[in-house]
Amino acid sequence: MPMPFYGAARTLLFQLDAELAHNATLAMLERAHGTPLARFWQQERIEDPVTLAGVSFPNRIGLAAGLDKDARAIAALESMGFGFAELGTVTPLAQPGNPRPRLFRLPAAQGIINRMGFNNEGLEAFCARVRAQRERWQAQAGSAAHMALGLNIGKNAATPIERAADDYLKGLAAVYPLADYIAINISSPNTKNLRDLQSEDALNALLATLAARKKELADEHARRVPLFLKIAPDLDDAGLQAIAAALLHHGIDGVIATNTTIARDAVKGLPHAEETGGLSGRPLRALSTSIIEKLRAALGADFPIIGAGGIFSTQDALEKIQAGANAVQIYTGFIYKGPALVPEIARALKEQAK
Ligand SMILES: Cc1cc2nc3c(=O)[nH]c(=O)nc-3n(C[C@H](O)[C@H](O)[C@H](O)COP(=O)(O)O)c2cc1C
Repeated sequence: MPMPFYGAARTLLFQLDAELAHNATLAMLERAHGTPLARFWQQERIEDPVTLAGVSFPNRIGLAAGLDKDARAIAALESMGFGFAELGTVTPLAQPGNPRPRLFRLPAAQGIINRMGFNNEGLEAFCARVRAQRERWQAQAGSAAHMALGLNIGKNAATPIERAADDYLKGLAAVYPLADYIAINISSPNTKNLRDLQSEDALNALLATLAARKKELADEHARRVPLFLKIAPDLDDAGLQAIAAALLHHGIDGVIATNTTIARDAVKGLPHAEETGGLSGRPLRALSTSIIEKLRAALGADFPIIGAGGIFSTQDALEKIQAGANAVQIYTGFIYKGPALVPEIARALKEQAK
């Protein structure tokens, strides 16, 4: 995309309430894909294929979860050159999320605080959209490999935490036939007690259940879909070691590090810094990189790690790869910098791999 266009669009969008800007942009991407307007965000995809957990990714830059929670804009996102996109978090039933306002920009720190709380239209609508996109792709004969789709599942706010596994099992079964990989999100700070599922006993119980169900689904569908666990950055060393051990013990296929942080040290004193929720963007970068480094040490050389947190430049992406990530995702950097960041990072990672 011509960069001056996003510069102008961003100036406009940043005048609006953050959630309004988000919804308007997503609606435009959904509706204008395939029209002449789409030339403003269409970009060449840099081909740099990599296989992770048996899944082929056309390149190593992906969209992080939470931007396209209802799988509305898959085709438009693909046209920006992403190698993969993680859609969701989706919960079994539709739910409104937390009261507004719940999304705040911190431009001075290039951060975002959100407490959206998994607002989404539920599994049925989500799966229908992903299925329709898969059918459109299938109908395009002779086309190149499409971007990989990660489908990110969570639990409804109304489901008691003791019954969380029921919601993940529903999500797992529904998205299984449609996903290239499935992300298990137990790390959002915005659903009460969700992150308690990261504690050793709860995590072992949940992963045992999901791993067993995954085996059944692989037989049913005659297809193996890998599970990735998405974790928070706010974990001490003992907690992180316990998670690494659980991942290996239950044969989970990969990990996504990290979700947003509840820490505020990096933004103290700034407007909105004390809003409840998860902080993302530049203030998260170093923390998420350090988690990736520790995970790589604990998990060994071959375990798939997707890195996310404060990637705003090629340098930031390379930092995550050097820390041990095999691929990276962006969300906040994409909001601040625009789609041009996608091929820029893809190209740098391709160069670095040579
Ligand atoms: C507004 C917003 C909503 C998000 N929603 C989700 C979500 O639904 N599920 C999820 O796993 N992560 C969600 N995230 C976290 C991102 O996927 C990502 O892990 C995090 O923001 C760190 O990357 P970044 O610094 O590039 O934004 C959300 C982030 C933001 C800013």
